[in-house]
Amino acid sequence: MNQLLVKNIGLLVVDNHGRQCLRGAEMRELEVLKNAWLLVEDGKVKDFGNQTAQCSTLNAQLEIDAHGGAVLPSFCDSHTHLVYADSREGEFVDKIRGLSYAEIARRGGGILNSADRLHELSEDELYRQAMRRIDEIIRKGTGAVEIKSGYGLNTEDELKMLRVIRRISETSPIKVVSTFLGAHAVGREYTGRQGEYVDMLIREMIPEVGKQQLADFIDVFCDEGFFTPDETSRILEAGAKWGMRPKIHVQELAPSGGVEVGVKHNAVSVDHLESMIDEDIEMLKGTNTIPTGLPGTSFFLNMPFAPARKMIEAGLPVATASDYNPGSTPSGDMKFVVSLACIKMRLLPAEAINAATINTAAAMDLSKDYGSIAKGKVANFFITEPIPSVDFIPYSYTTPIIARTFLQGQEVK
Ligand code: NIG
Ligand code: FE
Repeated sequence: MNQLLVKNIGLLVVDNHGRQCLRGAEMRELEVLKNAWLLVEDGKVKDFGNQTAQCSTLNAQLEIDAHGGAVLPSFCDSHTHLVYADSREGEFVDKIRGLSYAEIARRGGGILNSADRLHELSEDELYRQAMRRIDEIIRKGTGAVEIKSGYGLNTEDELKMLRVIRRISETSPIKVVSTFLGAHAVGREYTGRQGEYVDMLIREMIPEVGKQQLADFIDVFCDEGFFTPDETSRILEAGAKWGMRPKIHVQELAPSGGVEVGVKHNAVSVDHLESMIDEDIEMLKGTNTIPTGLPGTSFFLNMPFAPARKMIEAGLPVATASDYNPGSTPSGDMKFVVSLACIKMRLLPAEAINAATINTAAAMDLSKDYGSIAKGKVANFFITEPIPSVDFIPYSYTTPIIARTFLQGQEVK
């Protein structure tokens, strides 16, 4: 038995309800214990409390002093593309000069640019680049992450990406889930032949990914100028045969029917939603599909933000993830995502923290074990510098207050 006791916690964010995801007004609920302790056993949360007397009777092999800092559940980042080759700051400058994200993509930049670079890069180097990003997000408080393929765009390179994702999950203490996104853009060899690319993806890529069990989820960039709702439906059906549940990119560039397709196929989540319309919100009511906003993308691309406030008022379970990728948001900083959710989407700090922990865990189908500090869940958490209140976390939007991080009950240094 391996025990760890964290003492002298100023503010401890806990979960006594064990709910798998928080909807609407529930998102405002954040239980905070003052002057608390946390006991971890064999990598899981064993117990917690706020009575100093009770704490002094506990005897664990290892004791850690939080020095009055706050302890929060690790962030869960349910939408990233963090396995990619090289950066794309040239396009960043093009955008400053006035080109839009869609124009850059039309000129053969964007996703295809990353696909060319990924093709050239060795699998080992791709892994090394991705691991630097993984180490950074762990330091910044993330404990579970979804990673997509989608910069391969041919069978061989998609498999290469998915193998790198698997290698990360085997070698890093962070929890990883993997998503096949062959329909991120039409691969170069199929330029002008989108229909044939989709046929090939269904005939060749999905069965291969399925056989090798390389993906938990399946994604499609269902949007204007990318894949249509009909193509998306066919791809999702093919993925379902191999047990891959949908998590899809929708309504980023235009209201293009993606939410409807997601709901029809029982998607775990529909993500982006910058161009979401009221009908989409109505459609999501009463479903299990989690609408996921990506405020870092709106910030970086100077685009509208997903109507998260409106969705919460409508009783939906809103999640917010980073979308970490080289084109539309080269950052996996979930604390900043929480700040943006407050500042730009008008979420209360408690709502924004829930949107980036328990609800993003649910958006990866992981909330049974991750996303909150609840008895029996995996002990993924971080300790901050002493802070006056939980609201200080999004308020201090660039201060690096996260001091120590623990994954599966072990400190990651
Ligand atoms: O989620 N919108 C589609 N895909 C990514 C961006 C990919 C890229 O530009 O490399 C996103 O924003
Ligand atoms: Fe994305």
